[in-house]
Amino acid sequence: MKQSGGVSQQGHTAVKVLGIETSCDETAAAIVEDGLRIVSSVIASQAQLHARYGGVVPEVASRMHLERMLPVLSDALAQGNLSWKEIAAIAVTNRPGLLGALLIGVSAAKALAYSLHVPIAAVHHIEGHIYSAFLAEPAIAGDFPLLFLIASGGHTQLVRMRDHGRYELLGSTRDDAAGEAFDKGARLLDLPYPGGPNLAELADRGDARRVRFPKADLGGSLDFSFSGVKTALRNYLRVEPNSSPADVAAGYQRAIVDSLVETTARAVRTARCRTLCVVGGVAANRSLCEKMARLAEEEGLHLVTPGPELCTDNAAMIAAAGHFQLERRGPDP
Ligand code: KG4
Ligand code: ZN
Repeated sequence: MKQSGGVSQQGHTAVKVLGIETSCDETAAAIVEDGLRIVSSVIASQAQLHARYGGVVPEVASRMHLERMLPVLSDALAQGNLSWKEIAAIAVTNRPGLLGALLIGVSAAKALAYSLHVPIAAVHHIEGHIYSAFLAEPAIAGDFPLLFLIASGGHTQLVRMRDHGRYELLGSTRDDAAGEAFDKGARLLDLPYPGGPNLAELADRGDARRVRFPKADLGGSLDFSFSGVKTALRNYLRVEPNSSPADVAAGYQRAIVDSLVETTARAVRTARCRTLCVVGGVAANRSLCEKMARLAEEEGLHLVTPGPELCTDNAAMIAAAGHFQLERRGPDP
């Protein structure tokens, strides 16, 4: 990495990585120093634009990324009071995600890396989510192995991280992701996009004990399954169309959250990790965070929940992941 930028108090030159994230409907750019300190972070959400269609329209998302990419990049520099020549490397999400949307970020990153003569790191979006925990609590870098629950709109995984770049997949969803279950449930309840946070808000006003939904029984494995609970909700609404939407939302949320917590509890007992990190968009859920805090207390674990701003899609986590990736294995072509 090109060493540039301001000299920190210890006399070492801080390495500033610019992260770019465009995998879904957030156009984001951020600058992270030494992989762990956020200098600036800008997120232009397209949620309002997609709300009228009830979900993300890929072609609309790509076009909005194209329109917003340069202003978001300029804002990230301005917020950090930096010039382009202080950027030592570019990190960009290149997978997984909406193809056209990813292409906008990757094209911008390549053009910048080429013109600034700096290296580029192509980051896996889920690895980005993992690094949100390092941004929230840099000290966990001394606590390997770490146990991660990653719950987003596209993924639900339990991962044991032995070191930077060394991951063991312990379990994952066999069908829908947890965030997808929230979003599909929201749609069945006629809640506007973005479904997950709206369902969570409604659930907070309901009583989960009044409406019970089944949790998948996967025989003690560390996998997840959320398609059954979604079908159960659809059937319930057909039979009980006049039930209280808040109670139904609360019962539905409880089925998803309890399944995440119970499977994580099983992983805790086998993974031999002292720190548990819960990341990804669904980690913004209040009930999930509360129940994970209880689990951590019972099991004597240190819990890291990075908070809604770092859990949902952002570019700071991509810059952080890119920083350590560049240190480990150098630039991507
Ligand atoms: O990580 P993320 O921002 O994007 C992906 O990588 O998918 O996660 C988005 C997912 C969506 O499914 C959204 O409904 C869900 O996270 N989500 C929530 C909450 N906030 C976002 N789900 C439940 N409760 C929330 N408060
Ligand atoms: Zn994400």
